[in-house]
Amino acid sequence: MRTRKPASFARIFVLLTPCALLAAASAGCAGEEETAPDDAGQPAGWDDDVRPREAADLSPAPDVVEVELTAREADVEIRPGTTTRAWTYDGGIPGPLVRARRGDRVIVHFHNELPVPTTIHWHGVRVPVEMDGAPDMPRPPVAPGGAFDYDFVVPDAGLFWYHPHVDSAEQVGNGLYGALLVEDPEEPAGLGDEVVMVLSDIGIDDDGALLPADGGGDLGTLFGREGNVILVNGRPAPELRARAGRRQRWRLVNAAKSRYFWLDLGGPTFVRIGGDGGLAAAPVETGRLLLAAGERADVLVTPVAEPGEERTLRWIPFDRGYGTADLRPEEDVLAIRAAPDEAVDPGPAPDVSRAIEPIDTASAMVVPLELTMDQTDAGLVLGINGVPFEDAQPVQAAIGETQVWEISNAMDWAHPFHLHGFFFQVLGDGGEPAQPLEWKDTVHVPVDGAVRFAVRFDARPGMWMFHCHILDHADAGMMGMVNVQK
Ligand code: C2O
Ligand code: CU
Ligand code: CU
Repeated sequence: MRTRKPASFARIFVLLTPCALLAAASAGCAGEEETAPDDAGQPAGWDDDVRPREAADLSPAPDVVEVELTAREADVEIRPGTTTRAWTYDGGIPGPLVRARRGDRVIVHFHNELPVPTTIHWHGVRVPVEMDGAPDMPRPPVAPGGAFDYDFVVPDAGLFWYHPHVDSAEQVGNGLYGALLVEDPEEPAGLGDEVVMVLSDIGIDDDGALLPADGGGDLGTLFGREGNVILVNGRPAPELRARAGRRQRWRLVNAAKSRYFWLDLGGPTFVRIGGDGGLAAAPVETGRLLLAAGERADVLVTPVAEPGEERTLRWIPFDRGYGTADLRPEEDVLAIRAAPDEAVDPGPAPDVSRAIEPIDTASAMVVPLELTMDQTDAGLVLGINGVPFEDAQPVQAAIGETQVWEISNAMDWAHPFHLHGFFFQVLGDGGEPAQPLEWKDTVHVPVDGAVRFAVRFDARPGMWMFHCHILDHADAGMMGMVNVQK
């Protein structure tokens, strides 16, 4: 049972209700929570077509979130009038949104009703290694018909996500992913009316049947297989309603197995206030917003200028190497329709700065990691430093140690590099942290490029994975591990 309301709704109310400003306890305000002034918020039902379903919290304790989650095949409707037998968490795509607050204990009673073994990995969450869902590191996957209780504390606020870590390209591609939102009780108030959007795609034929996970052979693997239908919370091009001038806060995660989302609103800009690991040190205004596979973005959007106006959030082909953007049309992601009412004044931009200490890299060891490919007699093998995952030796690290990882790209394709269990700070060319400071767990490594980041290994010993988040690349060997030792 939830004892809390989504914090943002409550806060917006406090901001806009005159008598709440005068006296929080005033008896005259009774019942006002149900009847917001007409010009205050988004139009009624503004996010009905988009909002994800949420997992029910079964725990009465205020600081425990306890949910049941089952991986199983289920029929979903993606192309209207057709049925797709997809792989789902609890019967839908995406899986239910799990909502917690920073510091909560999260318990997930997981059941595997798939015909294959699977795990759940909590992407970006600083869990203990036994809860990380990397198969046999150290726990074996959950067998068909089996169950496992994931049980961990969520120490950081931000938007995280969950997905399997066995045959990831196939399992994620078939529909297994969901979002975990960790709210921060101390966050600045009134950032905007919030909606969580899981961006993804799925590969289906005209009849709705899933396309094979290995289509196109090695070339398909190299390009990274993208689904042919773009989804927002499991729906193709849904509609979000808005009130002209009224700010919205979009919490976005790119859960696609290969696709990058480069997003354009045709005019209005995005104010990006945070990413993988919560709020950034300062907001950045940007015309187009890029999310590599696995990344998150926390953005403020004032989507429309005039009452009644319509906008479309579009997917722009992003060149992640070797013709991946060639001859591809832009695609609609989301329709935004403004209510006919008069525009409201968005007011001054909220202060969303956050104090983030730069990691001291003065005595850090540099770890060079080159993303590589090899054409062998047995076919394509991807790797790191020329070694595929099955033959890889772990990077060694000590608890409390800071390292600088230099990820270079020797291929004609870009890669989103992801580290499990620990956040990092991307470094600029001079070795100083990139501005504004931000905690990340996934970063785009361009073609012919390199990315350096600083990471400090906190006291969670164990074997942790890192890999390209184009899941076809990961499955073809572009993965490694770091052994954090006591
Ligand atoms: Cu989303 Cu191994 O990660
Ligand atoms: Cu991860
Ligand atoms: Cu890759």
